[in-house]
Amino acid sequence: MTERLEMYKCNVCGNIAEVIISGKGELVCCSQPMEKLKEHTNAEEMAGEKHVPVVETTQDGITVRVGSVAHPMENEHYIMFIEVISPDKRYVKRKYLYPHEEPVLNLKCSCDKVIARELCNIHGLWISSDK
Ligand SMILES: [Fe+2]
Repeated sequence: MTERLEMYKCNVCGNIAEVIISGKGELVCCSQPMEKLKEHTNAEEMAGEKHVPVVETTQDGITVRVGSVAHPMENEHYIMFIEVISPDKRYVKRKYLYPHEEPVLNLKCSCDKVIARELCNIHGLWISSDK
């Protein structure tokens, strides 16, 4: 059984899938079950590198930055996307990123509380602590 917005990775080909609508079936890629990506939290943060998205309120919305210390955005190690999810999981906004870009998402909205996630190509999926 899957749940909305869970992410799964194929450990053979690297495909990553997000569940849009949940179902009873198992997600399979390259003839084997896909691995559910764990949402890492602040408590699991490694020393010297920061992954947990930080949400700041702006005059007309929010800004999400990756980490209180800037995360690398190199060809071999970078943030693949940042996404913002409403607490009721009805709205999702995702920004895909590429190496050498700043890992920031600016969103105009009247939202006062959101969930933010980011995916590091090496260290996996991270979620904001104030959900
Ligand atoms: Fe990382």
